[in-house]
Amino acid sequence: MNVEVAVVPAAGRGTRMMDATRVVPKALLPVIDRPALQWVLQEAVAGGAVELIVVVSPGVDDLIFSHFEGMGGVDRIGDLRDVRIRWVVQERPLGLGDAVLRAREAVAGRPFHCLLGDNIMPPGVPCLGPMATASDGRSVVALREMTAAETSAYGVAELGEWLDESVVEIVGAVEKPGPEAAPSHLGFLGRYLFTPEVFDLLEELEPGYGGEVQLTDAIRMLAEGGRCLGAVIDAAPLDVGNPASYLEAITLLGLQHPATATRYRAFIESVIAGG
Ligand code: G1P
Repeated sequence: MNVEVAVVPAAGRGTRMMDATRVVPKALLPVIDRPALQWVLQEAVAGGAVELIVVVSPGVDDLIFSHFEGMGGVDRIGDLRDVRIRWVVQERPLGLGDAVLRAREAVAGRPFHCLLGDNIMPPGVPCLGPMATASDGRSVVALREMTAAETSAYGVAELGEWLDESVVEIVGAVEKPGPEAAPSHLGFLGRYLFTPEVFDLLEELEPGYGGEVQLTDAIRMLAEGGRCLGAVIDAAPLDVGNPASYLEAITLLGLQHPATATRYRAFIESVIAGG
């Protein structure tokens, strides 16, 4: 499936990153040499998106807008120069499902990738491409193997028939089940490909887990109707949403980034060696 639109929910308040996020939105927290959100938008463009729809929260939209649109767009960042970026405000923090629903009008009936704005996929890891290839007209959720201890922090798929070694039909989905309730060990890593029918399902949803409108509940409804596949991706995005995982993200990306890799590796090695 050819997918040219990407929706990036980036309206998180960053409560687990206080006090860093008292003024600076989570989406603008620096990761090496650019804000977290920039990594995600660049992944979307590298994956073929020509139109980005970014969902932000009120109050911080101006700051985020100035970073990406600069002086009326004239100093747009390199690989974002030729894409159309649209900004949508989620007025109230009603959940991830509600954030995606805010993009409905801008998506205008097209299939779209959805990339969670606080999850950075290390550059060069194939994800959006394999998802688009896996789609036979149905929505696709990126899956990764999770430990029993991890399932309570992620959406988890109930698996149907395997179509090949990495693509599986999904027949159900549960948001953040404990180890006993998890229907499998394959969880949602934060990358999705949706057909526009997902918006009708999101419109109907009542608040679910945690009192929020959950994207996972819309996926469950797609799955129950035989309208959703899973693509197993051999990678875990880096979550900038809490202090420990934020540090891990910076460390992993710093060890790969051409501007920092050599010096940073030597530094880490000397720290570990007790130097
Ligand atoms: C969200 C989704 C969850 C998904 C996860 C990926 O949870 O609700 O289904 O597995 O992102 O990171 P959150 O991390 O916002 O709690």
